[in-house]
Amino acid sequence: MNNTKITETGNSAQSVFLNISQVDMVFPTPTGGFTALKEVDLQIDKGEFISLIGHSGCGKSTVLNIVAGLYQATKGGILLNNKEVNEPGPERAVVFQNHSLLPWLTCYQNVELAVKQVFNKTMSKGEMKEWIEYNLKLVHMDHAMDKRPDEISGGMKQRIGIARALAMQPEVLLMDEPFGALDALTRAHMQDSLMEIQSELNNTVIMITHDVDEAVLLSDRIVMMTNGPEATIGEILDVKLARPRSRLSLAKDLEYNRLRSEVLTFLYEKQRKVENISSKAVKPPAVVKKRANETN
Ligand SMILES: Nc1ncnc2c1ncn2[C@@H]1O[C@H](COP(=O)(O)OP(=O)(O)OP(=O)(O)O)[C@@H](O)[C@H]1O
Ligand SMILES: [Mg+2]
Repeated sequence: MNNTKITETGNSAQSVFLNISQVDMVFPTPTGGFTALKEVDLQIDKGEFISLIGHSGCGKSTVLNIVAGLYQATKGGILLNNKEVNEPGPERAVVFQNHSLLPWLTCYQNVELAVKQVFNKTMSKGEMKEWIEYNLKLVHMDHAMDKRPDEISGGMKQRIGIARALAMQPEVLLMDEPFGALDALTRAHMQDSLMEIQSELNNTVIMITHDVDEAVLLSDRIVMMTNGPEATIGEILDVKLARPRSRLSLAKDLEYNRLRSEVLTFLYEKQRKVENISSKAVKPPAVVKKRANETN
C-alpha cells in the first residue's frame, strides 16, 4: 500500500471483513495523471452481496481490480481479514468483464487449472474431476468441456469464466458484469444459481452490473458510483428484501419497485451523463443519401 496507511480505529475497524479504505487511483497518461477514483471507502461484511453500479467509465472495474490485487491503489488500500491486499490470491476469484480464458486449453482444462491451484493438497484426482464437472454442469456447459475457447460463443466463454471462479470456492467472489453477454433465459438461470450458491457457501460477492433489476434481485447493498473523473461512492442502498428471492413474486412487490426506482433516479437524474447523446444526433454523410436516391 502506498503513501497512506489504512487507519484502524479500534475494534470496529478490526472486525470488518473486507475494508476498502480511502482509495484513490491515479493513472499515468501522456498528458499527466488521471484521477479515476477519489476516496472510495466501503466496509463489507462476510457473506454480503454488494452490487456496484454506475455509468460507463466511472471506475467500477478499477475498484474491482484493486480489490483483486491486480492494481495497486495510489492512496489508501484494501484490508481482507485485517491483512493488506497487495497481490492476487486464490481466496479472491475474479470473473473478468472480457472473459479471459487460456486459448490453448479446453474449457475443462481452464477450470482444472484453477481447481488444482486451490485443491491440489485436499482433493484426490477423482474428486477434482467430479468437482470440475459439477461446476461445468452448474453453468450448463458440460456438453462443451472438451472444446477450446475459440470454438464457443462469447456468452459460453463467460459461463466457463464463472464456473472457473465458483470452482475455486473463494471467500470473495469479484464479478465484472458476469452476465452481460448472456441471453435472458441463461442470465436468469445464472442469477438464481448464484443466489443459491451464495446462500449455501456464504461467499462475499462484489458484482458490477449495469442491470438495475439484477442489482436489486441479488444484492444486500447497492453501491452507486458518481461519474468520473474523481469518481467516488455517491449513495448506498440497503436491500432488505427477504431471501430466498423470486423474480416473479418480486415483480409486483412495492419495496422492490421502490428500490428499483431509487437506482434509476440516481443514474438518470442525479448522475445523468452531462452529454446527452440524443441531442447530438449523428447525421449520415451526403454519400449515404446519394446512394439511397440512386437505389430508389
Ligand atoms: N490503465 C489505465 N490508464 C489510464 N486510464 C485508465 C486505465 N484504466 C482505466 N482508465 C480510466 O479510468 C476510468 C475508469 O475506468 P474503468 O474501466 O474502471 O470504468 P468502468 O466503470 O469499469 O467502465 P465500464 O462500465 O465501461 O466497464 C476511465 O475513464 C478509464 O478511461
Ligand atoms: Mg468496467
